[in-house]
Parts: sequence; structure tokens; C-alpha cells
Amino acid sequence: MSDQNNVALVTGASSGFGYEFCQLLAKDGYDLVVVARREDRLEELAKSIKQTYGQTVHLFPMDLTEENAPSKLYKLINERGLAIKILINNAGVGRFGKFHEMDQEANDEMIKLNISALTSLSKYFLNDMINSGEGRILNVASLASFQPAGPNMAVYYATKAYVLSLTRSLRIELKGTGVTVTVLCPGPTKTEFGSTDHVQSLRMFKLASISSRQVAEAGYRAMMKNRAVVVPGLFNKLLAIGGELPPRQLAIQINKFLLNK
Ligand SMILES: NC(=O)c1ccc[n+]([C@@H]2O[C@H](COP(=O)([O-])OP(=O)(O)OC[C@H]3O[C@@H](n4cnc5c(N)ncnc54)[C@H](OP(=O)(O)O)[C@@H]3O)[C@@H](O)[C@H]2O)c1
Repeated sequence: MSDQNNVALVTGASSGFGYEFCQLLAKDGYDLVVVARREDRLEELAKSIKQTYGQTVHLFPMDLTEENAPSKLYKLINERGLAIKILINNAGVGRFGKFHEMDQEANDEMIKLNISALTSLSKYFLNDMINSGEGRILNVASLASFQPAGPNMAVYYATKAYVLSLTRSLRIELKGTGVTVTVLCPGPTKTEFGSTDHVQSLRMFKLASISSRQVAEAGYRAMMKNRAVVVPGLFNKLLAIGGELPPRQLAIQINKFLLNK
């Protein structure tokens, strides 16, 4: 039987990077708390993890954009007596389109999920981690986080810049607490991400070269080694550096080109 205290929480566990994080954590002996909207996917994941690694998976199917969802989740986890040692804030959405033409609901969804839910969950679980003197948080940002702008994905790029900035600040604030925080910044990777908006057909996505498993492994390793920032893939690393270098107007034009079909 696995250690009752060895529990990791993964948001967005029903597909893509989140699914892969769950495999890596279970392989290393962690029990899991998994969150996403599609309950059937979470059930399948729990069954296969139990069969393959013998770890327990606690299912919390929910929409993290709903009002007070993060605080409800925190309360439910406490009621079950689960102490979260690792939090992977992975759930995120990216909608494509010109800002003025997009549904306000789509923009709200990105802000609520990519920013608000990630911030609230970090806050709730951080306090418990600090009190216990240990814990790890991995926030999933993006290559977009380094870019000065992302025309056609304006809100998404802005949300991911927030995640990188927040994580860099928390890292400094948390020194000496025993709690670490790392940010994973993947480049375009083939998952279910953005499929509804044909994001996968953008020039940007033609550059996708590494698998979701490789991205998750790089993030997981970096979190375990207490690294600050990880950008998987050499080409993505160059684009990340390029995004932060002056002249930033050049990076904006490159992003405009990449975020077109
Ligand atoms: N793939 C890329 O190219 C790429 C690049 C850079 C960064 N990222 C980031 O990586 C993270 C994971 O994305 P992915 O590529 O693995 O995409 P994905 O396959 O679409 O996975 C997204 C996950 O988030 C969950 N989710 C979406 N909306 C939710 C909501 N309202 N409440 C709860 N869960 C929700 C989804 O589950 P349900 O649909 O079942 O709720 C799914 O498990 C995101 O933060 C994304 O921004 C992706």
C-alpha cells in the first residue's frame, strides 16, 4: 500500500500533458488527485493507473472556471484527509481569433482557468505546504509567456505571461520555506489543445516536434530538481530567448507570422 501522505494533485488530467504527468507521478509511487471536466476520462485514467502502478487515484470531476470551484476543490480534498505534496497547475485553454471578434465567454474562460484557478489553487495549497515545511508546485505556462505579444491569441498570450511572472515572484518569496515552485513553458505540442479553434493548423503548430510525454518528463524532472523555468526543446529555447531580446517589435512581427495559417 502506498504512503497516504504521498499525494499529488494534477489539474487537466484527462488529456495531454496532464495525463502524462499522472503516469510519471504514479510510476514514482504517488497517489493522485485528478481534476478535469470529463469524468469518463478520469475514470479510465484511474483504472489504468491502478492496474499498472497500483496507486490510488481520487477523482474530482469539475469545471474549474465555475464560481468558487478552486475553494470547493480545496475543501473536498481536506474533507477526504488528503495532504497534497505536489500541485501541478496544468489545466489551461487557448482560444484563437481576433480579440474584438471573439466571444467574451471564450476570453473569460481563458482568464478564469489559466489565471484565476491557477492562482487560487496555488494560494490554498501553498499555506498547507509551508506549514508542513515541504511541497512542490509546477505551473504550466507556455513559450507564449516570453513573447511581447501574440496577435490572434492576445488573451492567451497575456494569461501565460502572467503565469511566468507569478511563478518567478513566488520562487523568491518561498526561499527557505521548504516549498519549491517551477514553471514549465512548452512550445507547440500536439495534444487536444486548441483543436476546436483549428489552432493546430497555424504555422506555429507546424513547428511542433516533441511529444506530450517528452514535455511532461522535462517539466517533472525540472520540478523534482527545483529548477526555476524549463522550456523543452532546443528550437523552443531559442524562441523563448528571442522573445525577451530587444528589439521586441521584431518578436511581435514573428509572432504575428507564426499565429497565422
Ligand atoms: N499543447 C500545446 O501546444 C501547449 C503549449 C504551451 C502550453 N500549453 C499548456 O499546457 C497545458 C495543458 O494543455 P494540453 O496541451 O495538455 O491540452 P489538452 O490536451 O487540451 O488538456 C487540457 C486539460 O485541461 C482540462 N480543462 C480544460 N478546461 C477545463 C476546465 N474548465 N476545468 C477543468 N479542467 C479543464 C481538460 O480536461 P476536460 O476537457 O476534461 O475538462 C484537459 O485535461 C495548458 O495550460 C496549455 O495552455 C500547451
